[in-house]
Amino acid sequence: MENLIIIFLFLLPFSSAYTRPNEHFINCGSDFNFTGNGSRNFVGDRYAGVSFFKGKTGTKRETTSSVSQLYWTVRIYSQPSFYEFIIKTSGTYFVRLHFFVPSSSDNLYNAKFTVLASGFELLSNFSVKNSPAGSPVIKEFLVNIDEGRFKINFIPSQGSNIAFVNAIEVFLTPESFVPDTAPLAGRLRGSFDGLRSRVLHTVYRINVGGDNITIDEDTLWRNWIPDNQFLSDPSSAMKNSLFFKGEPAYTSGRANEYTAPNLVYKTARISIVQDQFNRGQSFNITWSSNITWSFKCE
Ligand SMILES: *[C@@H]1O[C@H](CO)[C@@H](O)[C@H](O)[C@H]1NC(C)=O
Ligand SMILES: *[C@@H]1O[C@H](CO)[C@@H](O)[C@H](O)[C@H]1NC(C)=O
Ligand SMILES: *[C@@H]1O[C@H](CO)[C@@H](O)[C@H](O)[C@H]1NC(C)=O
Ligand SMILES: *[C@@H]1O[C@H](CO)[C@@H](O)[C@H](O)[C@H]1NC(C)=O
Ligand SMILES: *[C@@H]1O[C@H](CO)[C@@H](O)[C@H](O)[C@H]1NC(C)=O
Ligand SMILES: *[C@@H]1O[C@H](CO)[C@@H](O)[C@H](O)[C@H]1NC(C)=O
Repeated sequence: MENLIIIFLFLLPFSSAYTRPNEHFINCGSDFNFTGNGSRNFVGDRYAGVSFFKGKTGTKRETTSSVSQLYWTVRIYSQPSFYEFIIKTSGTYFVRLHFFVPSSSDNLYNAKFTVLASGFELLSNFSVKNSPAGSPVIKEFLVNIDEGRFKINFIPSQGSNIAFVNAIEVFLTPESFVPDTAPLAGRLRGSFDGLRSRVLHTVYRINVGGDNITIDEDTLWRNWIPDNQFLSDPSSAMKNSLFFKGEPAYTSGRANEYTAPNLVYKTARISIVQDQFNRGQSFNITWSSNITWSFKCE
């Protein structure tokens, strides 16, 4: 396993004055707004009066009834270009990039490109080829952004000459959503400082003992996946799907409903060994995953 930094977001101080932002959600290459997804208004970037993209680009429309209308249009770049957002509040932002390739589109399927933001490479020589076919690929990052102009650059790789994007989300997270210091996990000891000045990439968001949680069920339009595939020794762990029937009572200054949706707390894993024979002994359920990722600072 690579060096693994697990950030526990569960016991952090929060200030509660936060409402879900209504910008920026962009429906790329489109002249209509799409509002059908988690009551967000994905503004068409060709809609008169808004101008997020710069440089020379093309757009394409493909009606594919099997996917969300958000993915029917795409902005395509044949040379380096960028989207630009006006940021009114400094802080940590969710940046989500959505990519979808209809089966009929060979040139998008073969596209390879790099995405930069705030001097970081979010995606490096990215291609949808490495992802499951037929469904949208969503890449999620947490980026610290200052007030002013924020650019997301799309740079086609040599030999590909095409970059594209179907939808973009750039929205402010609650205050202190990302801690500046986090404990290191795995074999590493100590803590990691300066997290807020880094770009974080979501690799897995796991709902222990539970099912998928969809973006409609989450307070910040996140998706969560079940933990089954990550359990090292499934026989040591019992799934308890009625772990908690109530609603969490948040104490002031601690986590709140944006830290995780209530559904996350309703399921759990219980160590079978501990439960039946070994009360009081150390608790061991192990989750493991392969994480290979690195960011390059420009
Ligand atoms: C699309 O959304 C933008 C931003 O909220 C709004 O200004 C515009 O009127 C909307 N366009 C349509 C056609 O509804
Ligand atoms: C909402 O978006 C998610 C992923 O972004 C997608 O899987 C889902 O189908 C969308 N739902 C609708 C109604 O468009
Ligand atoms: C990206 O691909 C190009 C060739 O297309 C290669 O020259 C470059 O080193 C690659 N960059 C990375 C970070 O892998
Ligand atoms: C969770 O979602 C994935 C991908 O959408 C799907 O393959 C899987 O069957 C779902 N799992 C459950 C338990 O619903
Ligand atoms: C916990 O279990 C995992 C595998 O299930 C094992 O690799 C690890 O050594 C165990 N740790 C302890 C402290 O028993
Ligand atoms: C991790 O990688 C190994 C070897 O490449 C592979 O056998 C295993 O299935 C992977 N595990 C997960 C959870 O992806």
